[in-house]
Amino acid sequence: MSPRHFLQFRDLSRDEIRYLFERTRLIKERFKRYETYHPLADRTLVMIFEKASTRTRLSFEAGMQQLGGSAIYLNTRDSQLGRGEPVEDAAQVISRMCDLVMIRTFEQEIIERFARHSRVPVVNGLTNEYHPCQILADIFTYIEHRGSIEGRTVAWIGDSNNVCNTWLQAAEVLGFNVHVSTPPGYEVEPERAGLFGTDHFEEFSDPLEACRGADLVTTDVWTSMGFEQENDMRRKAFADWCVDAEMMAVASTDACFMHCLPAHRGEEVTAEVIDGPQSVVWDEAENRLHTQKALMEFLLLGRL
Ligand code: CP
Ligand code: NVA
Repeated sequence: MSPRHFLQFRDLSRDEIRYLFERTRLIKERFKRYETYHPLADRTLVMIFEKASTRTRLSFEAGMQQLGGSAIYLNTRDSQLGRGEPVEDAAQVISRMCDLVMIRTFEQEIIERFARHSRVPVVNGLTNEYHPCQILADIFTYIEHRGSIEGRTVAWIGDSNNVCNTWLQAAEVLGFNVHVSTPPGYEVEPERAGLFGTDHFEEFSDPLEACRGADLVTTDVWTSMGFEQENDMRRKAFADWCVDAEMMAVASTDACFMHCLPAHRGEEVTAEVIDGPQSVVWDEAENRLHTQKALMEFLLLGRL
């Protein structure tokens, strides 16, 4: 039987996401009570990083250890992956020696090729196109703070990047709306975002209008990893796409602010907003740990 992967958000159904969030709540409560919970004893996670990370590495590595298993970190600098070994060969070998693989890489195609040749589940820890683990944590955080996200409106301000694409997929899977405002030339590409249609999102040229009435306002860096050569051009193009108090003021009165982090205060968000009372970024970051523990448990053990 071919293994179950999590390469993009829509790889999980609405029902499976509901189940994952139930498990996340339980796993988080146990963790907070310092209760030992080792369903993945003797299981090994291999984490392959072709780009930098703090949260993703830490949450997967700590999460696997807390579930009783172990985690191994590989990067392109110290392994044969950076010296031209074909992805397909690496997948065959790595997946014979471990139970689960997490990959952070460049093009989505790389992780898809790896998954096609892997004997074990593969999880997307960020690609140029998607960041599905991030949005699992973000939506879980929204639900914890405000209840169901169904029918709500998320305002995405800034680059139509991997995190934005994943919000848009999640909106289709879970039934909410996204208001997107990007500078001209940086609009959403529905095919690249892996969308079935355009019913769940609306584009706004004015970021303030995108925030009007929104239940959640979110943004991300102007320049994602791998696009550093565009930095100067992007700084100019994105100057008006900074989430500030004025944008939060036109959102719903109980709107939350989220950011996947790392953040650049004074660029995509003001310090006043990210460090202000509506911001839930620290809970959002912590929930990477709990949601991914539920994800790993589900991919390795199925429904319990
Ligand atoms: N949000 C996120 O994925 O952070 P890292 O790049 O630190 O993993
Ligand atoms: N869009 C950002 C997210 C970092 C977690 C990037 O890809 O660099």
